[in-house]
Amino acid sequence: MGFLNLRLGYHQPIQHLLVPTLPTHLASPHSHHQTSTLFSQSVSHNNKSSYSYCYKINSSSSSTLGTQKLVVRALSTQAPSPVDMIKAFRVHELGGPEVLKWEDVEIGEPKEGEIRVRNKAIGLNFIDVYFRKGVYKAATLPFTPGMEACGVVTAVGPGLTGRQVGDLVAYAGTPMGSYAEEQILPADKVVPVPDSVSPVIAASIMLKGMTAHFLLRRCFKVEPGHTILVHAAAGGVGSLLCQWANALGATVIGTVSTEEKAAQAKDDGAHHVIIYKEDDFVARVNEITSGNGVDVVYDSVGKDTFQGSLACLKLRGYMVSFGQSSGTPDPVPLSALAAKSLFLTRPSLMQYNVTRDELLGAAGELFANVASGVLRVRVNHTYPLSQAPQAHADLEDRKTTGSVVLIP
Ligand SMILES: NC(=O)c1ccc[n+]([C@@H]2O[C@H](COP(=O)([O-])OP(=O)(O)OC[C@H]3O[C@@H](n4cnc5c(N)ncnc54)[C@H](OP(=O)(O)O)[C@@H]3O)[C@@H](O)[C@H]2O)c1
Repeated sequence: MGFLNLRLGYHQPIQHLLVPTLPTHLASPHSHHQTSTLFSQSVSHNNKSSYSYCYKINSSSSSTLGTQKLVVRALSTQAPSPVDMIKAFRVHELGGPEVLKWEDVEIGEPKEGEIRVRNKAIGLNFIDVYFRKGVYKAATLPFTPGMEACGVVTAVGPGLTGRQVGDLVAYAGTPMGSYAEEQILPADKVVPVPDSVSPVIAASIMLKGMTAHFLLRRCFKVEPGHTILVHAAAGGVGSLLCQWANALGATVIGTVSTEEKAAQAKDDGAHHVIIYKEDDFVARVNEITSGNGVDVVYDSVGKDTFQGSLACLKLRGYMVSFGQSSGTPDPVPLSALAAKSLFLTRPSLMQYNVTRDELLGAAGELFANVASGVLRVRVNHTYPLSQAPQAHADLEDRKTTGSVVLIP
């Protein structure tokens, strides 16, 4: 006795299909198999449907494989083409962590310019929460969230050179869809991962680390002698910002919500840490800078900190508003910038990693800083991928520090 799992895909609307009804389809008149269906299930995705069957086979024959092939061909006469099913999260409606649904999803093969990747580790980011809640709008519903992962190439599209099956690669950004066992990616969106970097580390720094890179090296170029303010300094991006800015020679002021997070931020190179739930961070920054203010604020908290951040800046200082963990900041009149001739920018990694050269440059600098020890990546939380809803809840509840990684 054995078990045969068949996964059959149909690139046809479901109403056009003849669905195999009986397990007797499995047994050819010439075989010795007796079969019975244990279960069957159907899933649909993008107007395509596929069926999963599990059969119990009682057989004394060694010709099982041949019979299975016959059956697949027979079923395939109804406009079929075999597809692979993988497990992935999908969001069908916007809302809390509970709208993340763990489902069978059709994946297919890579086309020209694409690769298929089996994910080994997936980075959790606050942007995943924004898409799940609808703060940022996904292009389609349902969608699979996730914008950061590291995995092994399992197939390459026709004619593709430069990538091979077995390569370890990582990516950050679009296309969204990394909360999945496997995914199809444009080959030019991934970078090779050096041997010295593990999949878990790669998945925890691709998005957060390249964000720290563009914020500190390109958006506002931090140099020795600068004083900077980093909100949420113990978070995924915040931890890397503190370490990197310290190494660049800046004086780093960090804000956090708890003593435990303050200890981590200090360990990460923040020279001054303010617990902004207890202390007025504007007054404290004023004290620390002897009334001069800071050169730049990296503000990912948004609504709760935005106005105070403007108040912390020195003349001609830079307000870098790159996130909104506490909510979208209120609109700012231009006059709010005029009093100190401030600069205000709302940057996104996607607009800083546009070309292949920009991507390779950012990833290269990041991996080099990990290798040299400038960045000590804190993977403080790992969850099985199937527990992504719990991971989302913990991130939103401010229970996490450093990077959070999901393991398929
Ligand atoms: N623009 C870009 O390209 C870009 C790229 C990557 C990330 N980001 C942004 O960077 C920020 C950090 O991302 P991350 O993934 O590393 O997350 P994270 O910083 O690890 O988590 C968010 C942190 O924000 C703080 N926070 C303050 N008020 C909060 C509130 N009301 N609810 C939840 N958290 C609150 C919490 O730290 P405390 O408890 O210490 O306050 C929390 O731990 C996010 O806003 C994200 O959107 C932007």
